Amino acid sequence: MADHNHTLELDDIQSGVLRPRPTPYVATYIAFRIDDRRAGRELIRRVSRVVTSAASPNSPLADTWVSIALTHQGLKALGVPQESLDSFSWEFRQGMAARAKELGDIGESSPENWEKPLGTEDVHVVLVAVSPDEHRLEAALARARETYRQMEGITAIWRQDCHALPTETEPFGFRDGISHPAIEGSGIPGSNPQEQPLKAGEFVLGYGDEIGGIQKTEPEVLGRNGTYVVFRKLHQRVAEFRRYLKANSADGQDEELLAAKMMGRWRSGAPLALCPFHDDPELGSDSRRNNDFLFEADDASGLKTPAGSHIRRCNPRDAKIAGVVRFHRMIRRGTAYGPLLPEGVLDDDGAERGLMFAFVGAHIGRQFEFVQSQWVNDGVFFGAGDDKDPIAGSSDINFTLPRRPVRKRLKGIPRFVVTRGGEYCFMPGLRALRWLAELDT
Ligand code: HEM
Repeated sequence: MADHNHTLELDDIQSGVLRPRPTPYVATYIAFRIDDRRAGRELIRRVSRVVTSAASPNSPLADTWVSIALTHQGLKALGVPQESLDSFSWEFRQGMAARAKELGDIGESSPENWEKPLGTEDVHVVLVAVSPDEHRLEAALARARETYRQMEGITAIWRQDCHALPTETEPFGFRDGISHPAIEGSGIPGSNPQEQPLKAGEFVLGYGDEIGGIQKTEPEVLGRNGTYVVFRKLHQRVAEFRRYLKANSADGQDEELLAAKMMGRWRSGAPLALCPFHDDPELGSDSRRNNDFLFEADDASGLKTPAGSHIRRCNPRDAKIAGVVRFHRMIRRGTAYGPLLPEGVLDDDGAERGLMFAFVGAHIGRQFEFVQSQWVNDGVFFGAGDDKDPIAGSSDINFTLPRRPVRKRLKGIPRFVVTRGGEYCFMPGLRALRWLAELDT
């Protein structure tokens, strides 16, 4: 068993788990309901043939992939035995909608206001196709479509198309997809040379994790080389964000500084940690340098990167906080949807736009839920009471900007992000997909 813990079985892990998404990108999410378990198994059998593994990064298809994930309801719909269902993590079994209060999904963001069928018992399977361009995405989708076309007992019930914006930023206008952790045995380098690679068990079931545990399911083959994936459709109020920046700053320069302080990076991606006074677009786009920093040694009090900024909250790195940062890391895959709000427009045009946020990790509870509830929607961990994340916080947001001689405190920041829905899913390994397809309960 020992070597099980060291060498990641890349040829059994779905491609979408470990590999950063291409830039630029297009992506499509499709959700299915399974009304007939035999048809469901046939769908899994067929789809497993178009799902690529994380091995062979040099194949011509490397940047185009189809992934498949199932909700707890989906595993049930396939007829997975109860003792197997019960061996999955508690949060996954509850599902995202049941966890709304903990996640700050209240008011407008609460599940009764979600886009249907998200958060209902109908979402069983989520298929994701990602590619650098429309042409290859369409080819991948066509192959996937062959697997469920004209199949009785399977219904595609929801679809979301995503695409890189012409600005190559997320909808608020910041470069995204910069920081990601290194994972032992994956061969995929992390983006911060100062962060030790994390144990594989933080991201993939069946391997040792940072706490020394190994997550297993019943039977073991079902969970091994799989991971949990959290999808969230997050609507972004871009016009409101722009108006807020303008109303709370003296001029254009000040406005950009405020935006950077809220995020922890300038829009170009350049981190305040490395250029606190002005943007440096060259640094922002240099993947060898734009994530090479820590906080504690030269910015313990957050004069450069406020402790309450989005990136310092979501990954405090070596900053002194209550808790252990390495237990709460995650792989993220953000893809944008909706049209760009043209630069300078300050009035809401009513369009739906935002991020399909995807979390990948082996521990929904201590990774995604912890970060969302303790780091994004609370400030106690760094001594800021109930301050919340000024970018992604849920409501009643306050943000403190450490400055000399007097800090600045922004109170009652409006909510810029509204949850439109989401699901907790499990993305099985390729052997596990075959196990599911061969169920005969
Ligand atoms: C619509 C909402 C959101 C937007 C627009 C957004 C945007 C961004 C941007 C621009 C970055 C910096 C680029 C990078 O480091 O790759 C970032 C980093 C990050 N975000 Fe978000 N984000 C959102 C929601 C969330 C949520 C809900 C979470 C977690 C629950 C989260 C977790 C993270 C993490 C872990 C990082 C990397 C921090 C680091 O390692 O320095 N984000 N986000």
